[in-house]
Amino acid sequence: MVQAKDWFQVQPGGALRGSTRVPGDKSISHRAVMFGALAQGETHVRDWLPAGDTEASLSAVQQLGVQIDRLSPTELVVHGGKLIAPTAPLDLVNAGTGIRLLAGIMAGQPFPSVLDGSEQLRRRPMNRVIAPLRLMGADIEGDDGRAPLTVRPAHLRGIEYHMPMASAQVKSAVLLAGLFADGPTTVTQPGPARDHTERMLTAMGADLAVTPETATLTPGKALHAINFDVPGDISSAAFLIVAALLMPGSDVTLHNVSLNPTRTGILDALREMGADITVEEMGLQAGDPVGTIRVCHSALRGVRVGGDVVVRMIDEFPVFMVAALAAEGETFVKDAGELRVKETDRLKVMTGELSALGAAITETEDGFYLFGPQQLAGAKVFGHDDHRISMSLVVAGLGASGQTTVLDAECAADSFPGFADTLQRLGADVTIHELAHP
Ligand code: S3P
Repeated sequence: MVQAKDWFQVQPGGALRGSTRVPGDKSISHRAVMFGALAQGETHVRDWLPAGDTEASLSAVQQLGVQIDRLSPTELVVHGGKLIAPTAPLDLVNAGTGIRLLAGIMAGQPFPSVLDGSEQLRRRPMNRVIAPLRLMGADIEGDDGRAPLTVRPAHLRGIEYHMPMASAQVKSAVLLAGLFADGPTTVTQPGPARDHTERMLTAMGADLAVTPETATLTPGKALHAINFDVPGDISSAAFLIVAALLMPGSDVTLHNVSLNPTRTGILDALREMGADITVEEMGLQAGDPVGTIRVCHSALRGVRVGGDVVVRMIDEFPVFMVAALAAEGETFVKDAGELRVKETDRLKVMTGELSALGAAITETEDGFYLFGPQQLAGAKVFGHDDHRISMSLVVAGLGASGQTTVLDAECAADSFPGFADTLQRLGADVTIHELAHP
């Protein structure tokens, strides 16, 4: 059963115009507190993402005895170097990245721990980290392959692991456990999963050798604290990019966004659809190239998406589906079966909720196809406690006729605090209503 709490009220909008920053990158923010906890010294993090998922990782790290000074919601100092046994289970709430990366770290500790989360997180598959960690000798047990995960001290050995899916969370969990192993650990990936772990650990002094397919971590070098300026999250930017593409007259500039090539698949796919998107690279932050993205309203055409680009835009498919509905002709997506094991089964949930707005989409086992353009009609839809579903439905509502209500708006703050305010500042008519049922 979907439990509705706060809701978004969306009026079909006019143009979105202006410039803004988006909140800090979620993947980097999780890693900044975890890696900072492992490093000797003080890790100073600026533009950290204060969102539901990342706050869960921060609390878990604090439960491991790490002092974190909160200079502001987005600026913190992590005093790392020593972890101690937690006195209670670590609650990662809805954060898949939080629980899977921490499982790798906990596997190498000389004390036991339990990693748990919300009902939603407990439904997600954990064998993908349990299996390789066990190959390393870890003593880790799930509840039928799901959280809670019980981890006990064990001697870890280095392994060569061929990941069956291109998952940055799995790759990271194995490499992090590799820090505590007795020899080198190599992970081979079948596709270009995001590489923030490799970039950040290398910057902190880890011995990591990276090729496009592999990452080899040789233990023995202590991590040293460095400072991180977290760039803006391209996954959050994607909602604003698609909204601007859809709404006639729009011209939006997004500053300081991570342009890490393992994350920019959404820009490639949208450009192939005819999107007017200009990118200017401005430097490096937390190991990632960063820059400015300018996007103007564009007539889109359908596109075929499959293969390596899928993992480079994996979190953007819910909002990409909204863009595809506005495009002329067929859009066909394959190789995206991983969407079924995200916070929700995003293929099923998006197809269902967009249908409630009048869309015709055919779901396939590993993707979907649809023919556009399709005019949506405002309705009441559900976010399913999945931030990216909620926000994608808001974007769909902007292009619909009549008012759209998106029940379950709170979850947007799992990755994009201030989402409605940001849209409003750019000219959209989106309001958030709290603590009651409409
Ligand atoms: C993430 C990896 C991806 C992505 C998730 C964040 C990360 O998950 O979908 O939102 O920070 O490592 P998978 O590793 O399951 O593909």
